[in-house]
Amino acid sequence: MNRGFLGGTFNPPHLGHIRAARAAMEQLGLDELYFIPTGEPPHKDLPADTATAEQRLEMTELAASGIPHAKALDLEIRREGPSYSVLTARELLEEDPEGELWLLCGTDMFLTLDQWYRADWLLENLHIAAYPRKPGEMPDLEEKAEVLRRKWNARVELIRLDPMEVSSTDVRSALKRGGGSELLGDEIYAYILRNRLYGVQPEPDALWRLAVPMLEEKRIPHVRGCREEAGKLALRWGADAVEAERAAILHDVTKKMPAEEQLRLCAAYGIIPGIGGEADPARADEESLSPDDFARRYPAVLHAFSGAAAAWGLFGVSSAVRDAIMWHTTGKRDMTLLEKIIWLADYIEPTRTMPGVKKVRRLAYEDLDGALRLAMKNSLDHMTERKKSPHPASLEALNDLKKER
Ligand SMILES: [Fe+2]
Ligand SMILES: [Fe+2]
Repeated sequence: MNRGFLGGTFNPPHLGHIRAARAAMEQLGLDELYFIPTGEPPHKDLPADTATAEQRLEMTELAASGIPHAKALDLEIRREGPSYSVLTARELLEEDPEGELWLLCGTDMFLTLDQWYRADWLLENLHIAAYPRKPGEMPDLEEKAEVLRRKWNARVELIRLDPMEVSSTDVRSALKRGGGSELLGDEIYAYILRNRLYGVQPEPDALWRLAVPMLEEKRIPHVRGCREEAGKLALRWGADAVEAERAAILHDVTKKMPAEEQLRLCAAYGIIPGIGGEADPARADEESLSPDDFARRYPAVLHAFSGAAAAWGLFGVSSAVRDAIMWHTTGKRDMTLLEKIIWLADYIEPTRTMPGVKKVRRLAYEDLDGALRLAMKNSLDHMTERKKSPHPASLEALNDLKKER
């Protein structure tokens, strides 16, 4: 077999790795390609929020899953001691002693290859394939390749590709600044959100891409409208517009799920339907319905709690965003500015046409509480007309707003 391997910390694996792997696969005609994350570096203090070896492996598996005949191997993670390529290569050669094995490396590694531990063995027993990490590096690579060929009689090939100038360090700092998804595949980005790695700040456009497939087709315009409206309301009232967008994008994300699945999400991420969770123990004795009873009694409200659970557990949002989603249907006592904005954005976004919405829409930019009061009263009246009983939190929300007047 003709095989190749690419080592690295993969903290996290990014599109630069994937592009290089694809190009190598094609240009070397590989039958298989392995991504091999290094073991825990022994003397390196890892930054906070960094990924564990297990998580790096899982992300690398996701990266490999998008490339036919590529896979991630855990042999360096399993092995005790430093991750020497020579040990890894020996293990791989034992599996297929007659086959060809390529060591893939980027510019910086390639230029220092003869200083690696047992470089002589590597150059005698493996083929080497180098790829540029930045535009304009080819001449340096050519020169080095010639040296290695002459000195070691090694087989060295250069992989031609349009390099994506990115490093894992760049990715980590972009993630912390609220970007970074464009440097990763969506699957790896979602993994990072779910595991809250690297201090990631969920990027609204990426949340949108991840959330849309979870929505019913007919709900998409509503959620898009809600995102726009929430952003505008946040600007008007001095709230964090990015947080408002995150909450709006995710507020109905569980709405098409069956109730059992929604209840599972709530249980998995510590949300008690109707109560909240540890975040709001004050409500615990007021509303003692079991989650199942809650789902039966207030089916229209359940998605707010499961949506909060999903946003928190699957999309890594802040507790403020989680709570804004949690109370977007009922409202509650002592609503925060963000909670008010999401409740109202859901009510007045441009596709809404219910009676009285125009007045609330106007008022929302003049008197936030007044708009909320009017809208909540409208909804309660509507429920009474249809002989539906509102959730107690809705009544409390309205009473609270009346008091504040
Ligand atoms: Fe909703
Ligand atoms: Fe909604």
